[in-house]
Amino acid sequence: MKPVRIAVFPVGGLGTRFLPATKAMPKEMLPIVDKPLIQYAVEEARAAGIEEIIFVTGRGKTAIEDHFDYAAELEQVLSSREKNGILTELREIPGPPGSISYTRQQEPLGLGHAVWCARHLVHNEPFAVLLADDLIKSDVPCLKQMVDAYEQVGGNIVAVTEVPQEHTNRYGIVAPGARKDRLVEIKGLVEKPKPEEAPSRTAVIGRYILQPVVLDILSNQQSGAGGEIQLTDAIAKALTVIPTHGFHFEGTRFDCGDKAGHVMANIAFALEREDIGADVRQYIARLQLT
Ligand code: UTP
Repeated sequence: MKPVRIAVFPVGGLGTRFLPATKAMPKEMLPIVDKPLIQYAVEEARAAGIEEIIFVTGRGKTAIEDHFDYAAELEQVLSSREKNGILTELREIPGPPGSISYTRQQEPLGLGHAVWCARHLVHNEPFAVLLADDLIKSDVPCLKQMVDAYEQVGGNIVAVTEVPQEHTNRYGIVAPGARKDRLVEIKGLVEKPKPEEAPSRTAVIGRYILQPVVLDILSNQQSGAGGEIQLTDAIAKALTVIPTHGFHFEGTRFDCGDKAGHVMANIAFALEREDIGADVRQYIARLQLT
């Protein structure tokens, strides 16, 4: 079984749910405390053994490229002020030279289309897909948990979580088969079903390990729910040829493409910080008293 070395980060979406913040700034650059969402996702991928990173960008996303580069003038100032801690942190963000590639999705035609835009950069090997706006707070990074599971069962693996019945129309929903520990067989997949038509409440979230055949399927994929080319539809088509599992990850997922989810993630991450956690906790306690 080939190891998972490559990760695709689709960052071409418009982020309309987060306007006006995302008018001129990529949604993936929204910070949780002081770190952009995309950096959390890249760190998670590297912790899972990913060596090659592919960003599928779009118009207005150049801030992401700048973030994963050295910043000479800024570094000079930090160095002259002897701010060595943050300087070292900044120098680690880009990773090894040449380990990040960029391609562009000219039109936001959907997640499946964004992933397909990376087809020439994904060699004929399994690859991960991470959606940075799904931020997962866990002891073991979510993608690492999935890679460990992948080494047992292979095939396609998608991260899943249970969602309220009334939210099934926001997700790809699984028709589940047998479950063993954290892995559940996937018998079918439906994109954004109405609550009354959903085969379960088990929803696919933004972490995937996929076989390259999914890219071949995407080459012929028609648009689906919402007029977009859906990744879920391509994974559903691959079910007959590739064993596919849902993975119930350990951890808490925050939908940071949604304003409430983003605020909650900020609180959860801030409370654990040594530098600001106590102040934030005190403030929340004060709010509860009033
Ligand atoms: P979303 O479904 O959250 O869509 O995309 P969006 O356009 O970014 O945001 P809203 O719904 O308008 O607020 C999930 C992930 O897929 C990427 C997004 O950048 C995000 O990381 N995506 C989505 C693309 O790269 N291209 C697309 O055409 C659509």
